[in-house]
Amino acid sequence: MLQTISNDKNEYWNHFYASRDALKLSAPSQFAAFAAQEAGDAHLIIEVGCGTGRDSLFFARHGFDVFAIDGSEAAIAGCEQSRVAQGLERISFACCAVGTDAFGQTLIEARGRSGGPALAYARFFLHAISDEDELCFFRDMAAALRPGDRLAVEYRTIRDANGAKVTQPHFRRFVEPAQVVANAVRSGFVEEYGVEGYGYAKYLNDDAYVARAVFRKTATP
Ligand SMILES: C[S@@+](CC[C@H](N)C(=O)[O-])C[C@H]1O[C@@H](n2cnc3c(N)ncnc32)[C@H](O)[C@@H]1O
Repeated sequence: MLQTISNDKNEYWNHFYASRDALKLSAPSQFAAFAAQEAGDAHLIIEVGCGTGRDSLFFARHGFDVFAIDGSEAAIAGCEQSRVAQGLERISFACCAVGTDAFGQTLIEARGRSGGPALAYARFFLHAISDEDELCFFRDMAAALRPGDRLAVEYRTIRDANGAKVTQPHFRRFVEPAQVVANAVRSGFVEEYGVEGYGYAKYLNDDAYVARAVFRKTATP
């Protein structure tokens, strides 16, 4: 079973990350700063779609235990180099794609690293995967997380479809926030916090219209 992202999407992301300076210390996203402050008593953060690892590395530098996943081998190779360069030990990276059988098992393994509460985190990820993979993402998250654990997501919404973009055109699925909430609730989460708008994820001339949500895993499936 293929564990990386399939075909053209994998080619895009591998090329994207292979052309970056993996050792560059990049600033975390605005959403990472938000999540670190909202983490409460969670000491374990599980990131999905970590890319260069900039947010995961930031969490690790701030004392969290981190397990970060991405479906691109080039992304994970760069993350591992950054981990070594920054001398971080309480952070692990795994190459695994949402939508494969291995993903659910990898999440369970990640969650098993702490007996306390955990925060799962996915930034600019839901719009990078298909509708079908979004359902797999929530299903596998619900199976791996424990009651009370939280899941923080930030993604481009349908209102961002025509906005300026900095990166080259590639697969982006502009997402309807109400659908994300419905998928999460059906999978066993409740929404604790939700917001949308401009200004949350500005990068140069790309001021994406995004949605943020924090979901809590309920006791019953
Ligand atoms: C838009 S980037 C976001 C990177 C990072 N979270 C950030 O905010 O800078 C989307 C990431 O999702 C990864 N990705 C795309 N499809 C995936 C899948 N099915 N499973 C796991 N990772 C995937 C890509 O390799 C890429 O690193």
